[in-house]
Amino acid sequence: MHLSQRVLEARTSGTIRLAEMARERTAAGVKVHDLAEGEPDFDTPRHIIEAAHRAALSGQTRYTSVAGTQDLREAVAEKFRRDNGLKCTADAVIVGTGAKQLIFNALLASLNDGDEAIIPAPYWVSYPDMVMIAGGLPVVVDCSKIGLKIAPDALSAAITPRTRWLILNSPCNPSGAVYSADELAALAAVLREAPNVAIMCDDIYEKILFTGEPFATMAEVAPDLAARVLTVNGVSKSHAMTCWRIGFATGPRDFIDAMAKLQGQSTTNASSVSQAAALAALTGPQDQVENWGRAYQSRRDKVIAAIRAIPGLEARVPDGAFYVFIGCGAVIGMKKPDGTAIETDVALSEYLLETAGVALVPGSEFGSRRHLRLCFAKSGKEVLTACAKMGEALAALS
Ligand SMILES: Cc1ncc(COP(=O)(O)O)c(C=O)c1O
Repeated sequence: MHLSQRVLEARTSGTIRLAEMARERTAAGVKVHDLAEGEPDFDTPRHIIEAAHRAALSGQTRYTSVAGTQDLREAVAEKFRRDNGLKCTADAVIVGTGAKQLIFNALLASLNDGDEAIIPAPYWVSYPDMVMIAGGLPVVVDCSKIGLKIAPDALSAAITPRTRWLILNSPCNPSGAVYSADELAALAAVLREAPNVAIMCDDIYEKILFTGEPFATMAEVAPDLAARVLTVNGVSKSHAMTCWRIGFATGPRDFIDAMAKLQGQSTTNASSVSQAAALAALTGPQDQVENWGRAYQSRRDKVIAAIRAIPGLEARVPDGAFYVFIGCGAVIGMKKPDGTAIETDVALSEYLLETAGVALVPGSEFGSRRHLRLCFAKSGKEVLTACAKMGEALAALS
C-alpha cells in the first residue's frame, strides 16, 4: 500500500507505544507498574452505566444528529454556562468521539498548508502531529524556563501573519501547570492585537485542579474574544469515562457548523449509548468528581515526596491534572550496571521498564528531553511501590 506523506511524517503516539510495551510485558507474566497511560483508575460511576444500559434497551442504538443529541447538547451548554460562565446555547455545541477527535477536527476545519499553530511546550503529545497532519506548521514555544506557561512576550514574539491558532491546555498534560485568570487576561491583551489568531482551550482536566482557585478559561476571562475561542472539554477525565469516547466543544456558531460538516463526512455522530451516558454524567450527582479530586491531591502529595527522595530526580508540584513531570536531567548520561550509558530520556524510560518494571513516558514526547511523565491516577500504594523500585534501579547507576 502507498502511504501518504502526512502519515509518513506523523509519529506514533509515544504514550500509546509505552503503554503497549507495558501491556506486552504484563501478558508475558512480568509485573509492570503502568504509570504511563493517562487515565483515571476509578470506575465509571454506576448511575452513568445504568443510564447507558437503559438507553440501549430503549432503542437508542441508531444514528443521532451529527453534532450530538439535542438533550446532550443542551446539557453541555448548561455545563459551559454554569461552570465556565460562557454565554452558550446548544446550537453552538458539538459533541464528538472524544476531545481528541474534536481538536483534530477543528484543526482540519481551519488550517491551510503552511498555517501556523503556536504550541507552548511542554505540550500534550498529539498537538504537533495533529497540526502537521492538517497541513499546518507547529510553532513550539519552549516554556520550560518560564514557569511552564506561555508568557505574553513569548506569545507576542511567536505570532506571525501565518499564525492561526494558539493552543492552550490548562491544567496541562504533562506539566500540571494551570493558567490563572490574570495570566489568561495578560495573554488576551496580546491576542486582541492579533485578530487572525484563534485560541483553542483544551480544558479536559478542568475538574482535576488543586489550586483552590476557581478554574479559568479564555472565553470567560476575555468574553470580547469569544468569537475566536474554541473551548474543548469532555467526560473522559472528569467522570472516568475514557473509553466511552465523548468530548464536546463550543465556539462561534459558524465554526461549530464547519466542524459538524467535517464530522458528518468522517465519524458521523459519537456513539448514541455513550451520549446517553455523558448526559447522565453531566446532569447527575457530581460528588464522585469532588471525592476523586481529593484523592488525586493526596496521591500527588505522596508521590512528590517519594520522587524528591530519589537522588537525581526533581519534581515540581503540579497544580492540576494527574501527572508529575519528573526532571531527570541529572540521570541522563549515567552508566547502567553493564557499563552502557543512558543517553536519552527514551533509554531511561526503557531502563526503568526493564529493571524496575515501571512504565513512564519519555519527556521528549511532550517536547522536553530531560523529563519523564508519571501518571498518578493509580492507587497510592501502587505509585509508592513503583517509586521505591525506581529509586533502587537508579541507585544502581554510576
Ligand atoms: C490534554 C489532553 N487533551 C485531550 C485528551 C483527549 O481526551 P479524550 O479522551 O476526550 O479524547 C487528552 C487525553 O489524554 C489529553 O491529555
